[in-house]
Amino acid sequence: MCGIVGYIGFRPAAPVLFEGLKQLEYRGYDSYGIATHSNEIFIHKKKGKVSEFSPDETTLPGTCGIGHTRWATHGIPSDLNAHPHTDCNEQIAVVHNGIIENYAHLKRELRAKGHTFRSETDTEVIPHLLEDLNEGDLLKAIQKMVNYLEGSYAVLAISNDCNRLIAVKNRSPLVLGIGDGEFFAASDITPLLEYTNRVLYLEDGDIAEISVDGYEIYQGSTQVSRRVHEIQWAPETVQKGGFPHFMLKEIYEQPEVINRAIHSLTPDSIPRFLYDAKSMTVVACGSSYHAGLIFRYLAESACGIPVRVEFGSEFKYNSVPLTDVIIGISQSGETADTLSAIHKGNCSNVQTVAITNVLNSSITRYADNTILMQAGPEISVAATKSFTAQLGVLLQMISLLSGQVSDEFLSHAGVSIDKVFLLNLDDAVSLCAKAEHIFFVGRGPFYPVMMEGALKMKEISYIHAESYAAGEIKHGPFSLLSPETPVIATCLPGPAYAVMLGNLKEMKARGTPIIAIGSEEDTELSELADVLIPLEEKHIFLEIVAVTVILQLLAYHTAALLGREIDKPRNLAKSVTVE
Ligand code: M6R
Repeated sequence: MCGIVGYIGFRPAAPVLFEGLKQLEYRGYDSYGIATHSNEIFIHKKKGKVSEFSPDETTLPGTCGIGHTRWATHGIPSDLNAHPHTDCNEQIAVVHNGIIENYAHLKRELRAKGHTFRSETDTEVIPHLLEDLNEGDLLKAIQKMVNYLEGSYAVLAISNDCNRLIAVKNRSPLVLGIGDGEFFAASDITPLLEYTNRVLYLEDGDIAEISVDGYEIYQGSTQVSRRVHEIQWAPETVQKGGFPHFMLKEIYEQPEVINRAIHSLTPDSIPRFLYDAKSMTVVACGSSYHAGLIFRYLAESACGIPVRVEFGSEFKYNSVPLTDVIIGISQSGETADTLSAIHKGNCSNVQTVAITNVLNSSITRYADNTILMQAGPEISVAATKSFTAQLGVLLQMISLLSGQVSDEFLSHAGVSIDKVFLLNLDDAVSLCAKAEHIFFVGRGPFYPVMMEGALKMKEISYIHAESYAAGEIKHGPFSLLSPETPVIATCLPGPAYAVMLGNLKEMKARGTPIIAIGSEEDTELSELADVLIPLEEKHIFLEIVAVTVILQLLAYHTAALLGREIDKPRNLAKSVTVE
């Protein structure tokens, strides 16, 4: 839930670390810090966002160092709780992503031995433990230390007495970048792209010792080798490219992204056991969960098999009957709740499939099969292009499993998004920006599409937004309707059109402003709605994709009008690696 980065080579380390942390800020942004090594250890750390640091903070000396951007778990965001953390004598500095579950016990023992703690973090036990175990060789101390730690950790450590970087990983991601005479370590590949495309993914239990001359990787004290991958992502993909926010850039990438995602799944690449499955369970969180719900509506009707959709966070702790297949959906591939749900499937010998955006992420190691959605790096905390890519993969999966491949969907998905970009959403945006509460309603597969719209709205505009299956709103929530609570509704031609129109009339009768997404030729709807957002598509998959993008833009422009911090909404982090 934090971002870590390390560098050793020939460049001044501090600017490399600061720039790297900026790329990782989506993982956490309440405080940041770096430590460099140049005969002794130099530290700069502070509450706040690394993107707001001043250039003179980059003057720490040395060509080796570590950095951290934090999403607080243990202890409030503060200068003291910011990483790096050090031992009593400031000889060892450490940054950590993850949670040390037995930290309280370790802290008590270390205190009893005379160690003095300065922060409220779980992480601080690591440098003190290393101090306790260190007999002049940091690598050996770390090899001993891992036997004491319980929990998840990606740790980078440096010490006063050597120009080396030590990296250790257990259940938190850590990747090494291999340059010419320089090496990098980071929570993901984005900080490395500017310098190298050669990367190596550490496995759980790996300890890497890195110097300017090269690196060695150990499991315990046994040396192991890991494959070096060549990454295709270009450095520009992690820059804003002229857009005011990453979110808007990522929304505009979607025509290309969805085409890539759809075509990533072919009759040959789809795992064979999916064809034989008589029942499926999808496990996911947040936006990915909504993609799973949309899949359920459409797969049940097209393939005739029951599909259950579970929150990752609920699945592990409830005893539910298992299905033939478990599909885990996760953009990051690191969401702890989804990983533990997949793990539960593995323990029960159920076939598992991961749909993810990140090559070699943890979910790809947990699942029997992986489908890469190929959305490219998504930096904004709010999921947009990754959600659309999930739709691309899942809708294409339905087409292939049901044997009803639609040329319309294959060839027009990108075009239908391009058409959304031409819509004028100003009236809808100004209605939303004035509201304190907004309802999002739909029926059938459009219900989870509206759930996703409501999540996007609340996540980045901070307006309270709730979604309902349109038929349910009269069973209680009606009491909340008023001229101050707009309702956004999908009311497209189809089997539920007439009842949906009836529901909207009932809401309108309570004075509620209606923003409807429907057919331009629908005069009845256009007379009823305060704002009609016109949509003409010939296939339900295209309608779903188009409505998704309309709602993303509505949330984005509302948040922009309200001056919100769009790419990094308060209290959130993109990758949620704690349960
Ligand atoms: O990486 P994942 O897809 O597993 O992430 C799951 C959720 O945390 C994520 O979709 C979250 O809800 C988004 N920020 C919403 O925009």
